[in-house]
Amino acid sequence: MAEKNKTYYITTPIYYPSGNMHIGHSYTTVAADAEARYRRLKGYDVMFLTGTDEHGQKIQRKAAEKGVTPKEYVDEIVANTKELWKLMNVTNDRFIRTTDDFHVAAVQKIFKRLYDQGDIYKSEYEGWYCTPCESFWTETQLVDGKCPDCGRPVERTREESYFFRLSKYQQRIIDYIESHPDFIQPVSRKNEMLNNFLRPGLEDLCVSRTSFDWGIPVTFDQKHVVYVWVDALSNYITALGYASDDDSAFKKYWPAQVHLVGKEIVRFHTIIWPALLMALDLPLPEQVYGHGWLLIDGGKMSKSKGNVVDPRILCAKYGCDAIRYFLLREVPFGADGVFTNEALIGRINADLANDLGNLVSRSVSMQLKYFGGVQPADKTFAAPDEEIRGLFAEIYANVQTQMDALQFPSALTEIWRGVSRLNKFIDETAPWVLAKTADTSDADRARLAGVMYTLLEGIRIISILIEPFMPETPAKIRAQLGIAGRHELTAWESAAQWGVYPDGTAVQKGEALFPRIDAKKELEELERIHQEAKAAATQTGAPAKEAGGSAAPAAGEDNANLITIDDFAKVQMKVAEVIAAEKVPDSDKLLKLRLNVGAETRQVVSGIAKQYSPEEMVGKKVILITNLQPAVLRGVESQGMILAATKGKKLVLVTVDGDIPAGAAIS
Ligand code: ME8
Ligand code: MG
Repeated sequence: MAEKNKTYYITTPIYYPSGNMHIGHSYTTVAADAEARYRRLKGYDVMFLTGTDEHGQKIQRKAAEKGVTPKEYVDEIVANTKELWKLMNVTNDRFIRTTDDFHVAAVQKIFKRLYDQGDIYKSEYEGWYCTPCESFWTETQLVDGKCPDCGRPVERTREESYFFRLSKYQQRIIDYIESHPDFIQPVSRKNEMLNNFLRPGLEDLCVSRTSFDWGIPVTFDQKHVVYVWVDALSNYITALGYASDDDSAFKKYWPAQVHLVGKEIVRFHTIIWPALLMALDLPLPEQVYGHGWLLIDGGKMSKSKGNVVDPRILCAKYGCDAIRYFLLREVPFGADGVFTNEALIGRINADLANDLGNLVSRSVSMQLKYFGGVQPADKTFAAPDEEIRGLFAEIYANVQTQMDALQFPSALTEIWRGVSRLNKFIDETAPWVLAKTADTSDADRARLAGVMYTLLEGIRIISILIEPFMPETPAKIRAQLGIAGRHELTAWESAAQWGVYPDGTAVQKGEALFPRIDAKKELEELERIHQEAKAAATQTGAPAKEAGGSAAPAAGEDNANLITIDDFAKVQMKVAEVIAAEKVPDSDKLLKLRLNVGAETRQVVSGIAKQYSPEEMVGKKVILITNLQPAVLRGVESQGMILAATKGKKLVLVTVDGDIPAGAAIS
């Protein structure tokens, strides 16, 4: 194999320790795992890295709120994160924590070197400071000129800071991106970086802070800690031992073949990271791939909104192979996609239970029934068998092309072409008809043996091709085929060979690979879990921002987020007048409203109790979404949702600019 011993270094971002990891986080990691598994199967020497990004003011604050040290706070979350990856069969070779000693020491060396060579210099960071919150804000983060967290006045302030000369590298980065067309993928993100950030000009980057101390201390100026991106991005090289006594892994694996990241952090990986590497005289990674987001309830999943989907629950219910399959099958890799329970269960029932599961169980049952389970040597093949053989050769080649380009859904679509073809083949050849005459006609018996052989051989190949995606299912299929542990029949390259399933092999009946799900019952159950989690988040009023500082850019203006006028038309809105309002018991956030919507009245539960009293609500005209699925919040039914504008903790209701009766349509 040409790939033998070639190295392949793939990374996920390092995650902020933010409580429970949700299915959106699993998305990046599962995708990276599928690619890592594929490369290993192909014979590459793979290094697959993931980890956690543990410093910053937010973590420090959250820990303080809980009355624990920041390290204690992150330790617990990191342990949960590692467990989740184990549960989801993620095969990362290393797990880096930015609190690891070797990382801290290496970042300190990097920072010092950049300072010594003039790439980092000391200056002042100007911004707005909220004294009670001890937070810095930029002009654009303020709400009405006030602190976005607490709404109190802020002061103009200067903080002594170290800066990295990002501007110096602007032209080199542009040149690099233009001369390496594969560096930023998908290509739309490349144009966005060039046009929106690089060509307009780069400003130097603030890389230290003095306002908090949960970070890596700057060795030569102890009141400073290294701020966010220098610490976080360096993980990709420190994890391999860069700037340590043993940098053999670094020498072996760097530069990375691909950094897999969500689209909102492409910017950091394709501008700041290349500049840092250039300053360190190191080669750049071959590729940064920015995938889209999994959306839910019309927005990005977020712990604080409570709209997260917990992968642990889904894995426990349907098995991790099904969840991994769904994540990588449903959404074109690179684009945003909406996560719905309907789509998940639909895929499990259609693609897994029906198509793949039934194919295996029907084939094994027939082999048992017609030949006592043992493949006869005496067999004849016909035209459809030949066509299938050709199709599988094509699929094998296409799957590799797609995997080489990180196009996971396309690779799975290819594999399922094979699954569908085999199912159709059963209908075409009707083995049960051949079986009727197999005892009296040698020709029919040999033909039946040929049909069964084609099925089992096709299934053998499918069990190989799905392995990067579904690590548990292949062994189950192979046990049923009677080829468990037979390396020469299950190795990746054996999927290129047709006709190696040995005559005389005995199949075995096994359990259904993917039991069919009672969709209605499960959907109700999942919706209940979802609403409970949401109500809990509304109740606790978790802060709206993620941990790790304020460096995250506003994302979401991506073209993949645009909707058509038809999409918009699906949302029906009316003017509604509040005719009664009261607090929802045991909740300091929720109000129960009775609304006059013209021809009817509606009851709506709204999370506005902190900003509006029941008394002041009565008589207000608000905007109601009338065709939203009803939900139960804190045991109270909500028949729709009213609109409000929010920023930080500030919230104001959206209303109409003039006199118009309740029930008027909004368009
Ligand atoms: O950004 N759909 O960490 P993070 C798809 N620490 N991907 C999602 C997602 C969703 N709903 N939600 C999150 C950070 N992600 C930094 C990275 S790297 C040197 C530092 C993805 O925990 C997100 O896009 O906020 C990102 O790629 C990853 O999860 C980590 O996000
Ligand atoms: Mg983020």
